[in-house]
Amino acid sequence: MEVAVVTGAAQGIGRRTAEILAERGFALALIDLREPSQTLAALKSRNADALSFAADISKETAISEFASAVESRWGRVDVLVNNAGVSFIAPAETMSAKDYRRVLEVNLVAPFLLAQAFGKKMLAAGQGSIINIASVAGLLGIADRAAYNASKHGLIGLTRTLAAEWGGRGVRVNAVCPGWVKTEMDVADRPAVATPRRTSPAACPWDVSLLPTTLPAPWHFLPTTTPAALSTATPSRSTAAGPPMAVGNPSACAIADNPLRIQSCEARA
Ligand SMILES: NC(=O)c1ccc[n+]([C@@H]2O[C@H](COP(=O)([O-])OP(=O)(O)OC[C@H]3O[C@@H](n4cnc5c(N)ncnc54)[C@H](O)[C@@H]3O)[C@@H](O)[C@H]2O)c1
Repeated sequence: MEVAVVTGAAQGIGRRTAEILAERGFALALIDLREPSQTLAALKSRNADALSFAADISKETAISEFASAVESRWGRVDVLVNNAGVSFIAPAETMSAKDYRRVLEVNLVAPFLLAQAFGKKMLAAGQGSIINIASVAGLLGIADRAAYNASKHGLIGLTRTLAAEWGGRGVRVNAVCPGWVKTEMDVADRPAVATPRRTSPAACPWDVSLLPTTLPAPWHFLPTTTPAALSTATPSRSTAAGPPMAVGNPSACAIADNPLRIQSCEARA
């Protein structure tokens, strides 16, 4: 049985990702700040084998304990989805250094440490897939998200680097850059971006959200599809692999796949 690790699995995109992987027959190792009870119930109803860890991924000890638990339970790992993230929306001029650092710790440092912890095992096996959930904020500047944008730009840079280092050794490393998805994060962020100035088309050019229940194609094919197939399966309105990437949401997704090939849906929406 193949094993997938999903961070930030208690809700939103992480929860739906875990469900999709369970439907594809993966055993799931979940980590989140809180016990992902609803996700576990959803996995149980799909007869999926699962373990959960309530811990903060910004703590190195938590990551090593989590990796040990996965090792003792299954002795293998096939997929890592670095999904957990925080946004901390605030005007750049008022954001504290502490909050800025916290976003980088969770969104950028932790995915690196998780990629190391599980990537070593994948490299030893000569196979594996790491999927980093970045954002359109990793491709563009969006107002009021100095730390978030910096972390997601960094995550795409990390993806490209690991793809270059590990792609030739059987471990694929990709980033997915969703546009707006109506999750708890999005709902929590809305009041912070409610002022007309900050939601003007220049500051935030899209107002179309995807629902986590209709997550687009990369979630369905990235874990198991070869890079060659991936390049032909780049989502568009006519792709049979899943729903449209983002209707009316240009730039909603870019995929960096091994070796260093960047595919953007900018012109496809
Ligand atoms: N919702 C969107 O519109 C959107 C758009 C683009 C990218 N994303 C990215 O997708 C990912 C998931 O977003 P979402 O909307 O589902 O968010 P969400 O806030 O609904 O869920 C994030 C989960 O991560 C967990 N988490 C946060 N910090 C953690 C930590 N230190 N340790 C362990 N778990 C932690 C939270 O508890 C939560 O369960 C994030 O990386 C986010 O940046 C979201």
